[in-house]
Amino acid sequence: MTTSAMPASALESAAFQPATLRLAVLLGSNRAPRLCDTVAAWAGTEIARHGDFEVDLFDPRALDLPQALPRVPDAATRAMRDRLDHADAVLVITPEYNHGYPAPLKQIVDAAHGEWQAKPVAFVSYGGHSGGLRAVEQLRQVFSALHAVPVHDSLMLTGAAQRFDAHGRPHDDDACRRALQAMLAQLRWWALALRAARAREPYPAHRV
Ligand SMILES: Cc1cc2nc3c(=O)[nH]c(=O)nc-3n(C[C@H](O)[C@H](O)[C@H](O)COP(=O)(O)O)c2cc1C
Repeated sequence: MTTSAMPASALESAAFQPATLRLAVLLGSNRAPRLCDTVAAWAGTEIARHGDFEVDLFDPRALDLPQALPRVPDAATRAMRDRLDHADAVLVITPEYNHGYPAPLKQIVDAAHGEWQAKPVAFVSYGGHSGGLRAVEQLRQVFSALHAVPVHDSLMLTGAAQRFDAHGRPHDDDACRRALQAMLAQLRWWALALRAARAREPYPAHRV
């Protein structure tokens, strides 16, 4: 379905304009202090270097979501869902806790529903030996269940506590940067493709 004001071809080419893809960046940790801030600051610099994404940060410490999932969304949940609804793509930055992903991240994921549908999701994870690999593999299942589209590449930072220098850059900055930019390129491709597809026709799934 298209709007009557705009022919389908114009709508499609407008949706393919690369500028200002809206990127929802979700933080997985709510600890204080947390390594998440260091990882997110470095990733933010790389996202700015990429240039096509405008970041909206979803920090579990700032969202003020209710402890119990409300049957009727409260004001904080509604505000968060509204921001997510405007996102073209999602980037999750998360540590691994006990071979899984942290509870505050699941709280954000469960508080929304249709807002995830037909949106691409990429992952930057960090931790000890696994670099958050197990957390990300679980998150791929969770986001697939929500009709989101996990991109292939992800960035896993092993030995994260020792990985960053005093300036907040990974010791192997070049390799990490290349991996992150490769992932952002895939995220951008899917974001453009899915934004155009959503504009052309509503995604055919039940939306709560
Ligand atoms: C409760 C808890 C469980 C953890 N479990 C794992 C784990 O299973 N695998 C791993 O690689 N690191 C694990 N870690 C280490 C964290 O990934 C690491 O401390 C990370 O820096 C935490 O991120 P944050 O400071 O941003 O919360 C765990 C840390 C905590 C606090």
